[in-house]
Amino acid sequence: MRKENPDSIKDMFNKISPRYVLMNKLITFGQDRRWRRELIRLSGLKHGNRLLDVATGTGDVIIEALQMGIKLERSTGLDFSSGMLNIAHSRYENLSKQKRPNFTIVEWIEGDALKLPFKNTSFDIVTSAYLMRNAGDINTAFSEQYKVLNPGGKVACLDTTPPVKSNMSPFINFYLLKIIPILGSLISGNKSAYTYLPETTKAFKTAEEIKEIMIKTGFQKVSYRKYMFGTIAIHWGEKKRGKDE
Ligand SMILES: C[S@@+](CC[C@H](N)C(=O)[O-])C[C@H]1O[C@@H](n2cnc3c(N)ncnc32)[C@H](O)[C@@H]1O
Repeated sequence: MRKENPDSIKDMFNKISPRYVLMNKLITFGQDRRWRRELIRLSGLKHGNRLLDVATGTGDVIIEALQMGIKLERSTGLDFSSGMLNIAHSRYENLSKQKRPNFTIVEWIEGDALKLPFKNTSFDIVTSAYLMRNAGDINTAFSEQYKVLNPGGKVACLDTTPPVKSNMSPFINFYLLKIIPILGSLISGNKSAYTYLPETTKAFKTAEEIKEIMIKTGFQKVSYRKYMFGTIAIHWGEKKRGKDE
């Protein structure tokens, strides 16, 4: 598997940030929004919650939650790429100008998913979309999320997942390994970032392995669903409640 260090991953996302939203739309045939909505739904996010979106990137999960009309007490988007966060910030500002009364306070924080800068039990829901494949240390990423969740709070995670062999495999592989890098090079001018995506997807842990890591971290009621010919998975689970709850 192609291993990148955190600095080169940060650098890669800083470079592709201006075209990130457009590229996502193109390579997922516009389905990326639907999966984020599903992530939000499966996380159980509701009015009055405090939401942390780790590796928020261009802010898509938080923006989607707000557009779904969920009135959050607080939303925090954390990422280590300042380029991605700048875009998140301006997308949110533009939207909130149009829909100000429905919008709650959002904070965008530069920080590391492997060392979350928050007090324990600060959030009701923690989401992440396309973090785990990039995080390097998935165990630490999940245990950091576990710490900052309230007892009974929920975690939900969306990522690509290695597709299992089927009749569709030749088409899926062709798309992942040939078409996506070409689109990446044409649209974002960065072929390497879009070879990184299919390579890390194929080498990533299976959905069952991710489920095991979540259970080992301490999460309960862990489950997952797959989408898009088994190339996308959403996992969700719950932090154990205290004795008196
Ligand atoms: C593929 S993007 C996903 C962005 C967004 N969640 C979405 O739904 O499109 C992955 C993001 O993870 C961030 N990232 C990767 N490793 C990280 C880490 N250790 N700490 C913070 N952010 C990280 C990158 O900067 C990038 O913005």
